This record gives sequence, C-alpha cells and structure tokens, in this order.
Amino acid sequence: MASVCKSTTLNTPFTSSTKSSLASTSKPSQLFLHGKRNQTFKISCKVSNNDQNGETNSVDRRNVLLGLGGLYGVANAVPLATANPIPPPDLTSCSKAHIDETDDVEYSCCPPKPEDLDKVPYYKFPSMTKLRIRPPAHAADEEYIAKYNLATKRMRELDINPTDPLGFKQQANIHCAYCNGAYKVGGKELQVHFSWLFFPFHRWYLYFYERILGSLINDPTFGLPYWNWDHPKGMRLPPMFDREGSSIYDDKRNQGHRNGTIIDLGHFGEEVQTTQLQMMTNNLTLMYRQMITNAPCPLLFFGAPYPLGSDPSPGMGTIENIPHTPVHIWTGDTPRQKHGENMGNFYSAGLDPVFYCHHANVDRMWNEWKQLGGKRRDLTQKDWLNSEFFFYDENRNPFRVRVRDCLDSKKMGYDYAPMPTPWRNFKPIRKSTTGKVNTSSLPPASQVFPLAKLDKAVSFSINRPASSRTQPEKNEQEEMLTFNKIQYDDRKYIRFDVFLNVDKNVNADELDKAEFAGSYTSLPHVHTGSGSHAASVTFRLAITELLEDSGLEDEDTIAVTLVPKKGGEDISIDSAEIKLEAC
Ligand code: C2O
Repeated sequence: MASVCKSTTLNTPFTSSTKSSLASTSKPSQLFLHGKRNQTFKISCKVSNNDQNGETNSVDRRNVLLGLGGLYGVANAVPLATANPIPPPDLTSCSKAHIDETDDVEYSCCPPKPEDLDKVPYYKFPSMTKLRIRPPAHAADEEYIAKYNLATKRMRELDINPTDPLGFKQQANIHCAYCNGAYKVGGKELQVHFSWLFFPFHRWYLYFYERILGSLINDPTFGLPYWNWDHPKGMRLPPMFDREGSSIYDDKRNQGHRNGTIIDLGHFGEEVQTTQLQMMTNNLTLMYRQMITNAPCPLLFFGAPYPLGSDPSPGMGTIENIPHTPVHIWTGDTPRQKHGENMGNFYSAGLDPVFYCHHANVDRMWNEWKQLGGKRRDLTQKDWLNSEFFFYDENRNPFRVRVRDCLDSKKMGYDYAPMPTPWRNFKPIRKSTTGKVNTSSLPPASQVFPLAKLDKAVSFSINRPASSRTQPEKNEQEEMLTFNKIQYDDRKYIRFDVFLNVDKNVNADELDKAEFAGSYTSLPHVHTGSGSHAASVTFRLAITELLEDSGLEDEDTIAVTLVPKKGGEDISIDSAEIKLEAC
C-alpha cells in the first residue's frame, strides 16, 4: 500500500479521495479513540481523589501545568519603554519552587552553584566536524534506540550523586527552576514560558542535554529524536518510549494514551470522540493555523515581549499555545497524578524522557516557520537577542548563554532529518454550502458585548475597517480580529474556538474548514505573591488569509461565532473589534 503520509498525497484541496486514502491506514479496530464514549475526564476544580466509579479520573485541574496561561496575541503586558533584556538567573537567590497554586507544595530544584559565580563565562561553541542530525522518533532504528537508551541509562546512573549537574534529575530540575518560581530576576519571578523566551530557552536546554547524552556514550554526533507530531505518522507516543523497563519509559503517563492512540494536538483534558482520520485532519488543520494563518508576524509566533522588570507570562506564541501545551497535557498522567505528573506539570515535565523528544519537534517548528517566507523571521529586538540563561555543559563547566547565539541551529552544530510537512498544504477549504451567512439576521457585536458569560455558542456580526484590500495593503497590515478584556479565573482551564461565516450550529469538532479561525486557550496558572486570580487579556487573531479563503474579502460585515469548549461559564468578554495592524 502506498504510504498516504507523504505530503504529496495530502495536497489541498483536501478531497474525499485523499481522505479515504488516509483512512485506509487507520486500524479498523481503533476507529474511535478510546472507544468508550463515556470515558472522558471530569474536569473539576475540587480535589477529588476517590472517584465514584472507582476510577481516579477526577483531578484538581488547578494543580496541573502550573504557570500556564495567557496566549499568543495576548497583550496584558506592554513592552516597557526603559526595556532591558532578562539576565541569567541569580543562582545565589534560587529558592524553593512551587508546584501547587495554593503554594503549600514546595519542591527543590536549584542547580549546584558554581564556585565562582561572578566569573561564569559566555559559552563558545566547540569546533565540530559533523552536524548532529536529530531523527524523527517514530522512524528510528534499533541501533539508534539502543544508543539513546544507553545514554539515558548512564545519565540516570549519575543521579547517585544528587548534585552532579549532568544527572538525569538535575537536568529535569533545570526546567522546574526556570518555570516554577525558583529564580527571581529584577525582583520578579522568572518564567520562561508564555513569552518570547519560550523558543530560545528550550533550544539551549536541549542543546546541552543532547551533548551530555552524546558524551556519556562517547558519540559527539548523537542527536536527540524528535516527536514528529505534525505528521500523521508521528501522531502518537513514539513507540520507542512505550517499552516498559527501558530507560526512556516513564510510568507517569496517561495509560489511556499508549499503544498507538492517536494524539489530539488540541487536547485540553477532554477526550474528543471522533475517528482517527478526523483527529489527524484536525491536527493538520491546527498545525496549518498555528504555523501559517495565525503566525504571519514574529511576535505572534514567538510570543509577547518580556523585558526585565515586566511581569512574567505576557503571552504565548501560537505554537507554544497549540500544540505544545496540549501534548504536555495529553502525555501526563492526569488520571492518576495529582499535579498531572510528569509531562503535565512544568516542575516534573523534564522527568519524562519524552519531554526532550517533544521539545525537539517544537524546536524544529522554529526552523520550519522561518522557511515559510513573508515576515517570518527571527525577532530583532535587543531585549530578546540579549536575554541570557545559565547552563552546565557536558564537562560540568558552567556557562552563560545568549538568545542571539541560538538563532541558527546549524551554527549550534545540529539539524533535523527532513520529514514532509503535510500541514503546509493543508489550507482548509470552505465547508459552508450556503455561501455567505446573512449577517443582517445576527445581532451586531455592539449588542452582544459586553458578554457576561460564554456558556453557549454565540454568533454576531462585526464590521471591518476596510474591505477589498489590495495585496500591498495586506502586506503592510494584518487584519486582526480582536477580543478585548477577556476575563476568567486563571486557575481554570479555558478554551473557546472562533469561527467565521458560520452560524451557531457549526460542527465545532471538525476543524478542517476555512471557517475555523483559531482557539483561545488558557491553563491553570500560578502567580506566587499575587493574590489575584482574575485574568484579563486581549486576544488577537490574524484573519487576513482566512477572509480570502472564506470568500469574504469584499464584505464590510462578517459573521463571527464563538464556541466554548472548556470553562465557558467562567469567561466574560468586554468587546470585539477588527483592527488593522502592522507586524
Ligand atoms: Cu518548558 Cu514544554 O515546557
């Protein structure tokens, strides 16, 4: 059977014949993910460990993925006029991290302190003769798997000395320290997620992790595997990680997501009941939206500015939002572990070897995005380029590293084995057969907003500032569908989806349509030291391309539908408008 997973078979428009050829790879026995319709997670904000059905499938979501929140295009922190880059963390003041939003669970994850903290030098790349090539995990051969297992086993053995910076637990603790409030910079908690530090921090983190593994097996060419979740063949836990007893196996994973279960790249705790085909189709659509439609500008892709002195978590970039976070939640053992361990919580995510494999693909998306053209380039802001982190190298020497030195992975000595990127050709096509929704039958945005709660789907009409824009005008300014002052309790799981030119009866479980504009998501989120849990954010969705694809370019007024998917009763929205903005 010809592989349907080559990009050539997934060209747009996505016809029913390509659909059925993709379907033919589905194992008939697994047409439904998890099969049982009633076996979904209950998401409650109460701690409940003893479930009535005898299953511990109700967890305190507030404790899961601590610190996650906000979203790309979110502007709840304005770049400071007197901006400064984030310096490397002050190791002398490293303190206990917080796992739980109530702050009663503490965790120690500070690294060993170098002898002469003031003299930690800047890192210089060692000379190299050959690039380290990172392979797609699902396609790795047994020889590679054996090497990777051996390296990880050796790293775990170093844990015998708990302060060895190369030990597996010390390596995992790096993530905890940078994400769970152990470090302070400029008097505020340092957080490397939900902002433009997300991509560079994780790139440097994996760089050293990979070199340490390589040195433990005397193979400087060793490259980490990447979890190729953007390709149908990689849309499951990579099999090499699912072998019990191996050094890259982790027991703290959702047991219902093993053995080839197709991943939902938009997973938010609920099991979507659909076919494998529809799930893969949704995934490719989400990839297209996050990489292309909704990320035409650098700040939309990388995340919001985070200069020294500003509050942490100003807003995620598109890929950090989806699929990065859903893959964490999907993998972590939320049914059994109070805090979603290991992958579902920042403090513990690095304890699962698949974390580094997941992040290798996140990192690969950075390279892929820059190749897409348009204005898709690295940021040029000095505050980004000059931000710094601290790491130990494979010889246990401490170093400072700068964002500006990690923009080109080849210069860092590694690259990715190529895989087709079928999402590139997955531009969703129009599904509505009715043509343009009659906007005059809908209430105008000015009547619908302020919206006290988004407890059910809501449709409205909204005016555009300009219609029939020319290509030069579009190059100049993006059209942004903007929701002002979205408010909710930031200890809760939030997701709503945005559709254009549909009515309330839209099938919101099928995302592969031009009408699907994007998702707003937020996860339980911790701010130590601040009493308020009221999130208030602005959500901007780039819709220039969507309007073209929906045939709405010449319309002065369009129909927008919001469909709550998680926590809608807690969401209020002040207003909605369409604005033209430069990248
Ligand atoms: Cu640092 Cu995937 O999180």
